[in-house]
Amino acid sequence: MSKLVIRGRCRLHGEVTIGGSKNSSVAIIPAALLGEGTSALDNVPRINDVAVFAEILKDLGAVVTMDGSTMTVAPNGFVSHIAPYDLVRKLRASYYLMGVLLAKFGQAEVGLPGGCDIGPRPVDQHLKGFRALGADVSVEGGVVRLKAKKLVGSPVYLDFPSVGATINIMLAASRAEGTTVIENAAKEPHVVDLANFLNAMGARVQGAGTDVVRIRGVKELRGADHSVIPDDIEADTYMMAAAATGGDVTVKNVITKHLEPVSAKLREAGAIIEENGDYVRVLGPERPKALNVKTLPYPGFPTDAQQPLVAVLSRAEGVSVVQESIYDNRLGYVSELVKMGAKIKVEGKTAIVEGVPRLVGAPVKANDLRAGASLMIAGLSAEGVTEVYGLEIISRGYEMVDEKLRGLGAQVEIRPD
Ligand code: EPZ
Repeated sequence: MSKLVIRGRCRLHGEVTIGGSKNSSVAIIPAALLGEGTSALDNVPRINDVAVFAEILKDLGAVVTMDGSTMTVAPNGFVSHIAPYDLVRKLRASYYLMGVLLAKFGQAEVGLPGGCDIGPRPVDQHLKGFRALGADVSVEGGVVRLKAKKLVGSPVYLDFPSVGATINIMLAASRAEGTTVIENAAKEPHVVDLANFLNAMGARVQGAGTDVVRIRGVKELRGADHSVIPDDIEADTYMMAAAATGGDVTVKNVITKHLEPVSAKLREAGAIIEENGDYVRVLGPERPKALNVKTLPYPGFPTDAQQPLVAVLSRAEGVSVVQESIYDNRLGYVSELVKMGAKIKVEGKTAIVEGVPRLVGAPVKANDLRAGASLMIAGLSAEGVTEVYGLEIISRGYEMVDEKLRGLGAQVEIRPD
C-alpha cells in the first residue's frame, strides 16, 4: 500500500497531457473480444483498471499485448464463457463481460462486482435489457448466469439513463438478430466512443449520444483499429486543481465539448478558461467564488467531478450547495476534507460547503477513486503537508498522477504507508 505526500500550498503552472478515457477503455477492451480478428486500441491509459482487464482477457484465452498506450487484442483463443471471479471482483466494469460473452457464446457466467463507497451498484437495468433480447437470467451466489438460444433485437426502455446498462445492451445487441432500440439511453462521451468502435468492427449502431440508440445486429464483427477518446474526468480534475490553487495550467489532448459542464462551473467560480482546439487553459482565481451545482447524467454536471469540485469550493468565498443526484452515497469523503479544516455539512445527498480562507494539510484516506482526486486537490491548496492514503485507488483512474502533478510544479511524492 502507498500514499501520496503533498506539500501545499502551491499554484500549479505549466502543461499536462491527458490520457485516454478510463470509462471508454473499460468498455472498448472487452468489446474487442467480439471481433473475429485482431483489434489495435490506441491512447489506452496506463492505469490499474486497464491492467486488470488485460489479465481478464488473457484468462479468457485472448492474446493481449501492450506497447506504450497501444493495446492489441487477438481474440483467437477466446473460448470460455465463464469470467474469472478472482479478477472480475477487482473491477466494477467487468460487468461488460455479460454483454460480450452473451453476444459471443449465447451464454455468460459473470460474478457481480461488489458495491463500493459511493453506494450500491445494482445491475437491474442491464439484466432487464438482456431479458428483452431473449436471455434467461439468473442471479445466485453473487454470480449472474445468462443463457439465450438466440438473441433477438427488441425495444428496451431504461428506467434511468444508466451508462453501464446502455453500453452492456449495445454489446449484446450488436450480434442479435434484428434491431434493438434503447430508449432513455445514456449520452456520455464514452457511449459514443464505444459505438464508433463497434461500427468500425462492422456493427450497425445509430443514435449513440442521443437518448435513443438503435442497434441492428450483424452476424459477424471483425477486428478494428481505434483511438480511445481523451479522459474527460481526468481533464476535469486537473482543471479543478488549477482553479483550487490559483494556478495557470494548460490541459492538453482534450475534447473541449466534453468539458463544457465543468468549464461553465469553474467560470462561475471565477476561473478564466481559454478553449482552443485540443487544449484548455485554466487561470484560477485567488479565491474561488461559491456556487450551487447538482450532478446529472451527461450533458449535465458529471457526478465524477462532484468530489473534486467540493475540494475547490472548500476554500471559496461564501456558501455553496452541492447536490449529488446520481449515487446514494457519494459524499462520504467529506469527513476527510473536514479533517483539513473544511466546513461542510451533509444533509441527505446534499453538501452545504461554507468556504474557509485556508485549509490545513492532514493525513486523509481515499475510499474511492474520485474521493482520492478530491483529497489530492485539497492537499495542493492546503498549507502544510497532506498524506493521501490509498494511492492504489487513485491509480485505478489517474495515470502517472505524481509525475503529472510534479510536471505542474507540485511537491508530491509516493511513499509506502
Ligand atoms: C459509470 O458507472 C462510470 N463507470 C462511473 O464512473 C460514473 O460515475 C457513472 O457511469 C455515471 O456517469 C464506468 O463507466 C466504468 P450508471 P455506472 O449505470 O455504469 C444506478 C468513476 O469514478 N443504476 O449510470 O455504474 C446506479 O446505482 C466511476 O470513473 C441502477 O439503479 O453508472 C447509480 O446510482 C464511478 N441500476 C446510477 O444508476 C442499474 O442497472 C448511475 O449508474 C444501473 C445503474
